[in-house]
Amino acid sequence: MQTHEIRERFTQHFVRAGHTPVPSASLILDDPTLLFVNAGMVPFKPYFLGQQNPPFEHGKATSIQKCVRTLDIEEVGITTRHNTFFQMAGNFSFGQYFKEGAITHAWELLTGSVEDGGYGLDPERLWVTVYLDDDEAASIWENKIGVDLSHIQRMGMEDNFWSMGIPGPCGPCSEIYYDRGPEYGKEGGPIADDNRYMEIWNLVFMESIRGEGDKKGNFELVGELPKKNIDTGLGIERVACLLQGVDNVYETDLLRPVIDAAVELTGTKYDAGVHEDDVRFRVIADHSRTGMMIILDGVTPSNEGRGYILRRLLRRIVRSARLLGATGNVLEVFMNTIMDTMTPSFPEIAKNRERILRVALAEERAFLKTLESGTHRFDETVEQLRASGAKTLPGQQAFELHDTYGFPIDLTLEMAHEAGLDVDMDAFNSAMQEQRARAKADNKAKKHRNVDESLYREWVDNHPTEFVGYSELEHDARVLGLVRDGDKVNEAAEGDEVEVILDVTPMYAEAGGQMADRGLIRVGDTMLQVHDVQKIGKKLWVHKATVEHGGIGLGDQVQAEVDEKWRHGARQAHTATHLIHAALRQVLGPTAVQAGSMNKPGYLRFDFNYTEQLTDAQLQEIATITNQAVDADFAVNTIETSLSKAKEMGAMALFGENYGDQVRVVEIGGPFSIELCGGTHVEHSSQIGPVAVLGESSVGSGARRIEAYSGMDSFQYFSKEAALASGLAAELKTPTGQLPERIAQLTERLRAAEKEIENLHRQQLLSKTGEFLDRAETIGAYKVIAAKLPDGIEAGDVRTLANDLRGKLEGEAAVIALASDNGGKVPFVFAATSAAVESGIKAGELVKSFGEYVNGRGGGKPNLAQGSGSSADGIDAGFKAIRDVLGA
Ligand code: ALA
Repeated sequence: MQTHEIRERFTQHFVRAGHTPVPSASLILDDPTLLFVNAGMVPFKPYFLGQQNPPFEHGKATSIQKCVRTLDIEEVGITTRHNTFFQMAGNFSFGQYFKEGAITHAWELLTGSVEDGGYGLDPERLWVTVYLDDDEAASIWENKIGVDLSHIQRMGMEDNFWSMGIPGPCGPCSEIYYDRGPEYGKEGGPIADDNRYMEIWNLVFMESIRGEGDKKGNFELVGELPKKNIDTGLGIERVACLLQGVDNVYETDLLRPVIDAAVELTGTKYDAGVHEDDVRFRVIADHSRTGMMIILDGVTPSNEGRGYILRRLLRRIVRSARLLGATGNVLEVFMNTIMDTMTPSFPEIAKNRERILRVALAEERAFLKTLESGTHRFDETVEQLRASGAKTLPGQQAFELHDTYGFPIDLTLEMAHEAGLDVDMDAFNSAMQEQRARAKADNKAKKHRNVDESLYREWVDNHPTEFVGYSELEHDARVLGLVRDGDKVNEAAEGDEVEVILDVTPMYAEAGGQMADRGLIRVGDTMLQVHDVQKIGKKLWVHKATVEHGGIGLGDQVQAEVDEKWRHGARQAHTATHLIHAALRQVLGPTAVQAGSMNKPGYLRFDFNYTEQLTDAQLQEIATITNQAVDADFAVNTIETSLSKAKEMGAMALFGENYGDQVRVVEIGGPFSIELCGGTHVEHSSQIGPVAVLGESSVGSGARRIEAYSGMDSFQYFSKEAALASGLAAELKTPTGQLPERIAQLTERLRAAEKEIENLHRQQLLSKTGEFLDRAETIGAYKVIAAKLPDGIEAGDVRTLANDLRGKLEGEAAVIALASDNGGKVPFVFAATSAAVESGIKAGELVKSFGEYVNGRGGGKPNLAQGSGSSADGIDAGFKAIRDVLGA
């Protein structure tokens, strides 16, 4: 049974049972605690927690959610069932059916006949586990379903109590396993062997809330959920593996074509008895799919967070392919293959093929460059080690290759092996350990800056803030909470820094790239200056403020006011951001996808995925379209609607939003710009004033940034530029319109003058040959001129002078050694007369040994050789060594 059909049967089974089918959410949700969505229930979290009412007709839903788990990236391909990307099929009940319903639904689908829409699995081969003291679940399995007691096992917190690994909803679970037979491992059920008995479905009886701790059950339960819920997760890939009769999840219909493509590309055979090779093929298949799906949802490679994971995945593919024998580029083939197999389930891939390829190929190019420089460094190290007779590559060097050159350790091991060297793995591991400790410390420091949400839980749950700032800039409000230095307090006094929670606020909290409003909170003589507003859990507005005057207490009736001027500027900048986004897509096409943005009064920046630098003409066009849109005085409309309606309208759906959400659409000039956005905007585009596009730059691989001013800041920018131009015009005594020619003229003259000076310099130097001849020393049997020339002489001139001197000394056995410090470069030239060469002097060798002193290399013939170094400090010592050699 093909994967698409397995999906379809799952959905149909639950739709028949009254569940609302819900499309998969993006892998990237607006949740700072998760890098990627890692379970089917993640998008439903607010419904489990009771923060929002589930918008499903019967309180039941079913989905097939894209998931990424990259914690065990090293396990991929080694075990038979770990995919970094997988599709989790789930059914969800929000306060409707509970244990019995979940168990019955699951059993019917698994064991139902294929003709009736089931998977047709043999009930005798199914095993189940339940949580230690969950007698209720055990009894349902045994008595209602009829599972033999010998096939029901009990497991502890670590295995049969499910949570997201972080504070949030959780509960005991019951898992269903399939016995793959004795060739896969020993008997005894899932407790004995989880390879032979493959877990296929996890039924979670979601009823509690957990606190801080780890994933392994070391946490406390801090509360009960308002209702008893069901969350389940069936691994589509694992079921495919069983129903397609293949050995592991990498050989199912969606991934196997990538393995086949890799076999063709590398010339190495799969499943030919070489375990390491097989693992590499599976890594290629798994990572190609995960990488592709992550790019699809808007991630580009970088050195942090999601971008780093993507980078690692793509690089592991390239490296695995190389280890299998590929020599050129590989990602184009793998990406195209996986896009072909995945498109029927994820039709949105079709529209994004070009972008996905562009991002992946740019990363491959970058990595191949890294590999090249790393290989160069590796060869150098090996040469040194060989010279010193060492047989082991020090751990520190392996670490440097990893850290600086992005060289994975197994590549280093492989190459060292080929070079007949061992690698000091202990030292390497401890260097890695140190680095991890540093990273952890860093992370901790970062986390600390994140808010501890538990402090605000009570307000989030019971007193979400009412935001009135789209239509009002002032509002009466009551003080519901005060937090000072991380503690709840009852009052705050003059000079205090305090966080204020109000029942109602007109102040915009930072979101969607728009900086928070500035404003005041007042009552009587009391005045607080609000300098930041942050949202907690999308529902609670926290005003960060300084008490400038008087004091404030819980329950106070206050006036909250937005700084009007600030808001005016913020609206201009935010609407300008939408115009630039629209203009950009007109000029660059729809593959220029937004990657982030920031705007505040007078200024905005907009990041987008695009691998090439923009030309001046493109930038000019974007600026023109943007300002034409301002000039057209487009109406700006905001519409509240459902996500699907918004998409129908053609709103650019960015990642992060959730299907259940009501969304806000901001439409400027009808079709000109339609975006999902919660920000504040001007009413007519002309209110933005001029938009000054400052330029564009690169922000990491595959992403670029446009920056611009809006409103009066644009005007100030333009008038400064104009003043600068007229200042220059006055200075150069030429009309502003003729500045470019005038400056070109001047530059040309300057260049000519520089050339002239250079010539004079050279002539002067050459005229000094007499002086150098006078300074010749006699060392052993040779006449020697070893001289550091004045700074700034180029290699060619050093060579001319050396040749000249050699000519003058040709009758004698003479050696000439010259070097100069030319702005960080050290050119050096050695020459020997015929008599010196006959007596055994080799300028080429002298140059080599001199090179070591100035951190350089060189070579040439016995009578003339040259080189270049980078450390002028070593020139004197180098000459001394040469004198010693000649005198010996
Ligand atoms: N949320 C459960 C899991 O991820 C179903 O296993």
